[in-house]
Amino acid sequence: MANDRTKELQAKTTAFLKKIKTENISAKEIEDLREVLRFHEHRYYIQNDPLVSDFEYDSLYKQLEALEKENPDLIVPNSPTQRVAKGLTKEFPTVQHLVPMLSLDNSYNSEDLIDFDRKAKELTGLKEIEYCVEPKFDGASISLIYEDDHLVRGATRGDGVQGDDITPNIKQIRTIPLSAKFSDYGLQTVEIRGEVLINKDNFKKFNESLTEQGLAPLANPRNASAGTLRIKDPLEVRRRKLEAFVYHVSYYTLKKGAEDLHSHSQTLEMLWDLGFRSPDKEKKVLKGIEAVIDYCVEFENQRDELPYEIDGMVIKVNNFELQDKMGMTSHHPRWAIAYKFKARQATSKLIGVEYQVGRTGNIGPVAKIEPVHIGGVTVRSISLFNEDVIREKDIRIGDTVLVERAGDVIPYIVKPLTELRNGDEKPIKFPRHCPSCGTELFKSEDEAAWRCININCPAQVLERLIHFASKDAMDIRGLGTAIIEKFYTLGLLTSLPQIYQLDYEAIGQLEGFGKKSIDNLKTAIEASKKQPLHRLIFALGIRYVGETMAKTLAHAVDHLLDLQNFDEEALQNLEDVGPKVAGSVVQFFSNRQNIELIQALESIGLQLKNEKKDFTSGGSLEGQSFLFTGTLSKLKRSEAEEIVEQNGGTILSGVSSKLNYLVVGEDAGSKLEKAKKITTIKIISEDQFIKMINKG
Ligand code: IVH
Repeated sequence: MANDRTKELQAKTTAFLKKIKTENISAKEIEDLREVLRFHEHRYYIQNDPLVSDFEYDSLYKQLEALEKENPDLIVPNSPTQRVAKGLTKEFPTVQHLVPMLSLDNSYNSEDLIDFDRKAKELTGLKEIEYCVEPKFDGASISLIYEDDHLVRGATRGDGVQGDDITPNIKQIRTIPLSAKFSDYGLQTVEIRGEVLINKDNFKKFNESLTEQGLAPLANPRNASAGTLRIKDPLEVRRRKLEAFVYHVSYYTLKKGAEDLHSHSQTLEMLWDLGFRSPDKEKKVLKGIEAVIDYCVEFENQRDELPYEIDGMVIKVNNFELQDKMGMTSHHPRWAIAYKFKARQATSKLIGVEYQVGRTGNIGPVAKIEPVHIGGVTVRSISLFNEDVIREKDIRIGDTVLVERAGDVIPYIVKPLTELRNGDEKPIKFPRHCPSCGTELFKSEDEAAWRCININCPAQVLERLIHFASKDAMDIRGLGTAIIEKFYTLGLLTSLPQIYQLDYEAIGQLEGFGKKSIDNLKTAIEASKKQPLHRLIFALGIRYVGETMAKTLAHAVDHLLDLQNFDEEALQNLEDVGPKVAGSVVQFFSNRQNIELIQALESIGLQLKNEKKDFTSGGSLEGQSFLFTGTLSKLKRSEAEEIVEQNGGTILSGVSSKLNYLVVGEDAGSKLEKAKKITTIKIISEDQFIKMINKG
């Protein structure tokens, strides 16, 4: 029954999306449209399972707004345009927001913005308007209340009128001050709006730790932050390193005689000065809509370079008097509009599933979909991680699937659109034998992945070779996936030590291998022998040993083979080493074949000793963050980054106020421009960087 209703409303949705005409509309048709909107709001807010894109929802909403404007006698009090959408989670105490948390009107192109500007001029009677433009953060919205300079409450948006009181979790977010001198500005009770985010680096690290434990990674940073806010363990919240931006003061009481706030940009400055992270540095105050459009486009081009996700820009009339004059609808303020960046979601059809064998024998299902363009790339294949993910999402061959690609996060299938099924879809049959060597697959109780346990399985050997030579492992340039596959198929490369004993005469006979490319390959292979121990440990591909863990292990020994003497207990005494890693390391080093492999690599001349670094002569970079941009002439980017990390510094992925040093090479672009605007960032050359580390 419920399914029939869904189908009926989906059919109506499609009809409304096709029909944009507004003339001669009947009361019944308007009510139908309201019903369609309520249905989609319910799917979005309550079921957390939308059936239409934001864009489609917005066009339906705008259609209703337009219809009601033309037919004001047909407006009803419970129209979606007359209220804020409902929907609450019951897990935390429910609290009332001091002022309802409204949404933003959306726009998708410059015409929409020009239209917004025209209306703003009409409503204010001005010829030119000053706007404040800032990023639209893609996270989970929150409201904070400060009473007499102290944080007293933090809440989720909920239905906009009431939210969940999540104060203990909010207090774990370092970028939210527990107290702030609002009294210096004459403010007593203050309600603030903001967005909780997890930055791309931390999201990646968090996901790596999940995959290292054999768990499925989280879909995107937005889901990760919204989910984390609802965890009932504040310490776990702290571990996930959430951040928050605040961008709006929704309510305040002013002490007698104090000067009132007069503009949005001034409010962002105040929040910044009080210790909040507001978009004070990212904002721009601009006159006229043309400049606004330019800034939006400029920012969209830099989107991938930011350390966190944004999904658009927000344009706000800067002056508060003008804002008051323009007022709000029950859904959004009339003085602001969101400019949404190009969608990074699309639908496609699932054609089939292929199974890849990983280097540790794990079988990874990969969805093959009809090619679809998302955010500038064509997506054809998407990892489905493991059998559980397929079952939980109930993905079937022939399904229309919703695909998302957020920033530099790999694309993933959000869900199948089950309402669009016609009955021909086929369940996915997970294989029980290795697709490469035919060995029966094995699955341990505590793991989601099926595995091929044949250590000599050709697919695993190939994957181990690819991993060994890869950028984050031994970084052998010129020995990429395609070349390794070619050599492997021809029998020229079948084991790790053979990388160092290649038959260059035979290779020279192959098409595309001239003297120059062979010389380059030889040099790169030779250079890799000097890679530091932690890279070699990572390159060996020991299960659950990622880059960070490899550093911990390398740090604990003088020579790689010393790890033979560590039992599980000794390993677990090392930082962040849990029973899984310890078990895996012990297993690896108790296998004769592995020891022989390591000995072979040593006799070839690889670096198995833990060389204490040359740079650490006093000059630690502890607590300092670095980012490299442009082409470096003396160091490889990866070497430079490694030097920073070896000296206790950290590498950031984008320019933000957290950055201490931007090291600039040749042809530096937008990162340099951005850093120039943040006065606390020190901009240095590669030579200055080298001097800095050598000085110690
Ligand atoms: S202003 C009345 N500014 O986007 C003030 N919102 O899609 C309304 N958002 O509900 C909000 N970045 O959660 C504003 N710089 C920003 C924002 C922002 C993200 C969120 C906010 C809002 C949603 C609307």
